[in-house]
Amino acid sequence: MLVVKQIKELQEIIEREKSKGKTIGFVPTMGALHNGHLSLVEIAGQQSDYVAVSIFVNPTQFNDKNDLKNYPRDLDNDVSLLEETACQLVFAPEVETMYPGEDNRQFNFGQLETVMEGKYRPGHFNGVAQIVSKLFDMVKPDKAFFGLKDFQQLAVIKALVKQLNLPIEIVPCPTMREEDGLAMSSRNTRLTEEQRAAAPIIYKTLIEARNKAPQMSVEEVRKWVSNEINQINPFEVEYFEIVDDESLSLISDWNEPVNKVGCIAVFCDKIRLIDNIAFQ
Ligand code: PAF
Repeated sequence: MLVVKQIKELQEIIEREKSKGKTIGFVPTMGALHNGHLSLVEIAGQQSDYVAVSIFVNPTQFNDKNDLKNYPRDLDNDVSLLEETACQLVFAPEVETMYPGEDNRQFNFGQLETVMEGKYRPGHFNGVAQIVSKLFDMVKPDKAFFGLKDFQQLAVIKALVKQLNLPIEIVPCPTMREEDGLAMSSRNTRLTEEQRAAAPIIYKTLIEARNKAPQMSVEEVRKWVSNEINQINPFEVEYFEIVDDESLSLISDWNEPVNKVGCIAVFCDKIRLIDNIAFQ
């Protein structure tokens, strides 16, 4: 497995593999890898001949400076985890390499970025689009693999690919969970032992909410979820919304003829956790 930091080197390797007729699978990450990321790499390996993974903590997608500062980083450990997978190339650039100058590009994803993460983390998806468009341009993958845990990000990336006419297939991959149901996330490592023990309440409540629908109205389910989780100190729901899984428009009636997904963001002290569940 190769680890490169320079764009030119990355491009030369990818060109070489493409000239051999190999298809390129790409898994963009911010490092602090866990089994959720490794499952994306595994799926990429099943669907492509050559797998590249990027590790880059992208400053432009953090609207909270402390979150950026505290984001876990451990490149050596990430590389040794990837050694055991289908990954053949790791691209781990420095900030100056990816942003030699200010990136002033403004993307517009309409409704997709006005709700949920877009509402509470202004500028976040613009930063995601800035970095992912750069990475796509450098790696030129045939397929790119993203976890369904970041449900809204996936919708934004699909829109990005469409807007830029990129010939890249976006492959949604299932959310990986710990045995107790907590969605795997790099941020979980920042929870105290006590917080970690309580954190499965998030997914447990989402499952119960799905079971309660449609005996309760959408609004009642929304309130019930927040009340349940807010009772557990120090958990505080930032939002819980039930949305159309394509347009991400908020749903107000179970009879709306669209696929519905419930998306949640919860603060546990200063650590922000997100999750989602499909409603029938
Ligand atoms: O999902 C992530 O880890 C990041 O948002 C991504 C897609 C790697 C862009 O920095």
